[in-house]
Order: sequence, then structure tokens, then C-alpha cells
Amino acid sequence: MNILILGSGGREHALAWAVMQNPKCDRLIVAPGNAGIAMIADCAALDIEDGGAVVTFAEENSIDFVIVGPEAPLAAGVADRLRDAGLLVFGPSAEAARLEASKSFTKEICDAANAPTAAYGHFTDADAAKAYVRAQGAPIVVKADGLAAGKGVIIAETVAEAEAAIDDMFGGAFGGAGAEVVIEEFMQGEEASFFVLCDGTDVLPIGTAQDHKRVGEGDTGLNTGGMGAYSPAPVLTDAIAQKALDEIIKPTMAEMAKRGAPYQGVLYAGLMIEDGQPRLVEYNVRFGDPECQVLMMRLGGQAMDLLHACAEGRLGEARVNWANDHAMTVVLAANGYPGSYEKGSVIGGLDDLPEDSFHMMFHAGTTEKDGKITATGGRVLNATARGATLQEARDRAYAMVDQVNWPEGFCRRDIGWRAL
Ligand code: AMP
Ligand code: GLY
Repeated sequence: MNILILGSGGREHALAWAVMQNPKCDRLIVAPGNAGIAMIADCAALDIEDGGAVVTFAEENSIDFVIVGPEAPLAAGVADRLRDAGLLVFGPSAEAARLEASKSFTKEICDAANAPTAAYGHFTDADAAKAYVRAQGAPIVVKADGLAAGKGVIIAETVAEAEAAIDDMFGGAFGGAGAEVVIEEFMQGEEASFFVLCDGTDVLPIGTAQDHKRVGEGDTGLNTGGMGAYSPAPVLTDAIAQKALDEIIKPTMAEMAKRGAPYQGVLYAGLMIEDGQPRLVEYNVRFGDPECQVLMMRLGGQAMDLLHACAEGRLGEARVNWANDHAMTVVLAANGYPGSYEKGSVIGGLDDLPEDSFHMMFHAGTTEKDGKITATGGRVLNATARGATLQEARDRAYAMVDQVNWPEGFCRRDIGWRAL
């Protein structure tokens, strides 16, 4: 099979690595890719949000199967364009991708599906939003309705802070994403991520993970795209995962199908767990980054068969082969991230790293220049390892980190602290 993966992050490197483990893959192209991906697959420059360009590229390269990594091309309808052209694609339609692209849409679906989530109000003007905040009190969560690159959520400790956030959002701080605002009850508990594949009819769980969103150790400081993750997440016990499937995920999928927008792809449910009860924080319509890295490390080459079965509507007959193992990924980021940071520093020590089914250094913001790997993004590398225990996975991941020579970068030293 000739496979095309769209994206350029650590998530896409991990997907590419898993696909390359599978003997059914004859040729892999990743667009646009990064320096790490270029070591295992062909990379091609392509505007991945331009559906017409992606279709033409796939046809010219005799692609049999397209895997869409990030949410932006999905929200832009790239999967629809590919399917319309008769290509097999893993990833939801633009209509189904509204589960991530519109927070008010997701809340409405949860209402219809009777799925447990935070109480909320949905507003198109600041005065009504502020009146709701004053009536509810703080803490309270203010969210831009649309896609805001993970930055459109403000957890307000006071009513004044919530009112300021409302003014910012309606004032255009998040562009069009903030033209509508959702205000939610602040939920207590522990967060975990649950990943399932859906083919429009069947749902197949493929793993749990916990991310570390804050930049600083002990979960302090600014929010980031994620500084590290591990899988499985012990807080998501089998019983709680089953509840999440029965009460939240399956009813959501049924509601989407009922509305004529069946969901096909990976559904990433962000859950808040309190007293054994899961509630939905948000859906994402793609793999998490860096959660994908730990899921792929655990699934290996079978991941491609699962994604393929999902795209062909064969999940009912698919099974996951679980090893009783653990995986961890530690993100190396450029000094200054998530604020401003320098680009172009050279990263040393990468050549001697172990690369096998227990160790992989997945690349995110890297490029090759004059034979050297240089940093071009905020999150740059993902030291990813697997072990019989979480502690073993963690020791292996940090041993890789310690081999990297990159004074211009940093990582959190406490990934996995909640579970260890
Ligand atoms: P979201 O983009 O919706 O995932 O929000 C980003 C982060 O904000 C989540 O991962 C949670 O940590 C936090 N968050 C969002 N909504 C709530 C809520 N209703 N209660 C508590 N924390 C929340
Ligand atoms: N790591 C969080 C996300 O991918 O949304």
C-alpha cells in the first residue's frame, strides 16, 4: 500500500514510525514532515489545508490510503475532498470535525446524547455572558467557541477575571474563534485522555494517556501543547473507561450518525474524573500530540491495520493486541516556549540514540541544515520509551534526554509524577 500522512509534528513522526513497522506499507510519504520523519519516509512540500492540492498530490503519487494528522485540514474539509475523489482516508468529515471545531456544537450534542459534561451557557454578546458569570460565580471557565490553537480557554478564579476574558474574546483576541463564547462550570477532579477509533458505526478503544499541559514542574506555569505524556493512565480504570464509553462516547457517536454526520477517525475524549464518574471536558477529532507518541509506541505496526480497518468501516472485526506495558514521552522544547523562543540552534547527540521497539526519539519542530539537525519550533523533540513498568519507561526516556546536547532547549523532569 502507498500511504500519505498529512502533518509535521511529533504525532506524525510517531504515526509514520508505526506505519513503517507494518509490512503492508510499500511506500510512505509525509507532507510536509520534518527532519526526523525524513530519516524514515519521503517528505513532500504540500499545503495540507488545500483539499484540491492534496487530492492532486495523492492521485499523482498513486496513494492508496491517506492519514490526516492535525485538526486544521479536517475542519477545512480535506477528508471530504479526498473521499469525494474516491480515495480512502482516515479522518472525519468537516461536519463531524465540528466536535472539535465548535465547543457550542459539542455541548449541544452532549445535551442531545445525555452525556455527562459541565453545565454551560452559550453567548453571542458580552453583556449576556457577563450576566451569566455574575449569576454563577467563580471559579468559572470561559472558552472561545472556535479553534484557537489550544489557547482559547481561560480558567477564571474570579468574576472580574471572567469578565475580562469575555471582553478579550468578543474584542477579537482569538479572531473569529471568539465571536461566540461558551461559559462552563469549573469541574474538579483528575484529567485523562481516552482514545477510540470510530468507523461511523463501531467504536474500538485504543488506549488511555495522561498529558502534562503546564510548562513547569509540578504542573505550574503557562499552558502548552503538552510537555510529556504516558500511557496507560491509571486513573482511567477499566470500569471508568467503560462508563465513558457507554455514557459519553457511544451516545455521541449515535447522535452524530442520527444527524447524518457519522464520525470516522480517532476520537480523543478529554475526561475529568471525580469520585469514579467521568465527565467530558472536550473532544478532539485527531490524535493528541504528544499522546499519540505513547500510543504508537505501545501499538507498533498493528496501528496501521487498525486505522485502515477504521477507514474501511471494518472496526467490528478489529481487535487490539495489548502488551501489558507502559510508555512515556518527554518533550524537549526551545528555551522560552510557550512564549517567544529562538530558532535555528543546532541539536547534538542524536546520532548515538537507541532506536528500537523500546526507544524512539520522535521529532517535532526540526529541520536539517548542512547535515545538522536544527530546532525550528517550540516543541522540538519527544524522547519516547516503553517498558514493563512506567518507571522503566521513564528511566529509558530520561536516559535518551540526557544524551541530547542542546543547551538552547529544556524539558520537565517530572513527567509521570501523578502515576509514580
Ligand atoms: P480544552 O481546550 O477544552 O481542553 O481546555 C483546556 C484545558 O482547560 C483542559 O484540558 C482542562 O485542563 C481545562 N478545562 C477546560 N474546561 C474545563 C472545565 N469545565 N473545568 C475544569 N477545567 C477545564
Ligand atoms: N496534547 C494535547 C492535544 O494534543 O490537544
